[in-house]
Amino acid sequence: MSRDHWNAQLYDGKHSFVSKFGEDLLELLAPEKGEYILDVGCGTGDLACKLNELGANVMGIDQSENMIEQAKKKYPHLTFKVQNVLNLSYHCEFDAVFSNATLHWVKPPKKALSCMYNALKPNSRFVAEFGGKGNVQIITDEIISQLKKLGIHYKDDQFPWYFPSIGEYSMLMEEVGFRVVFAQHFDRPTPLDGEHGLKYWINMFAAGMFEGLNDELKDLIITKVENNLKSILFHDNRWFADYKRIRVVGVKQ
Ligand code: BEZ
Repeated sequence: MSRDHWNAQLYDGKHSFVSKFGEDLLELLAPEKGEYILDVGCGTGDLACKLNELGANVMGIDQSENMIEQAKKKYPHLTFKVQNVLNLSYHCEFDAVFSNATLHWVKPPKKALSCMYNALKPNSRFVAEFGGKGNVQIITDEIISQLKKLGIHYKDDQFPWYFPSIGEYSMLMEEVGFRVVFAQHFDRPTPLDGEHGLKYWINMFAAGMFEGLNDELKDLIITKVENNLKSILFHDNRWFADYKRIRVVGVKQ
């Protein structure tokens, strides 16, 4: 996406669950004092800050200028750069590459893996979590169905994300040279903030599915999606997104 569509304040406000859920991924990473760690897709820097508090030397990268600007404001003592993981040019520099809730945005995935592999020192690790096969499918199927009902042509390549199974992703990891030592695919129903949580989520994350439509049509579709999904995804006074995550750990051979 060429435009920087990320709203860093909204991300920190209504969507702060993204980095909260990432905190237990840090346990899988198990950073050690003094390690050099690359945080790919660092957003506004919260997990990079946790890594720093645990004693690591962290560099956060994100391709969104808005996110990096906010990260630098929040954590001026840390290093953040606007950088696309597909253009990384680091060679054997990091003890770990870490990525939370980012790699489903990156295509082609094998190129991203290859760049992250190159950035690692030999025998060091890649630890990532992102959307897996079937992620948010109840929501996206309903958006696509509403687009089609309104006679709006929807092409599969408009789908903004890459949501692989662990079989598919492990194979790509092996192809670039990783030994896959851990892979997991699990459900994580994710509470969204407030009675308009689904609308906010769609506007923040799924705007790419509405490319070329005016705001009025987009709002109409979102209202229909809300109406049709309320009985499935709204309970205990809040919306839940049907997240399915994958977690992987690979070691550079
Ligand atoms: C996710 O974190 O799984 C996700 C976030 C935004 C859009 C799609 C998936």
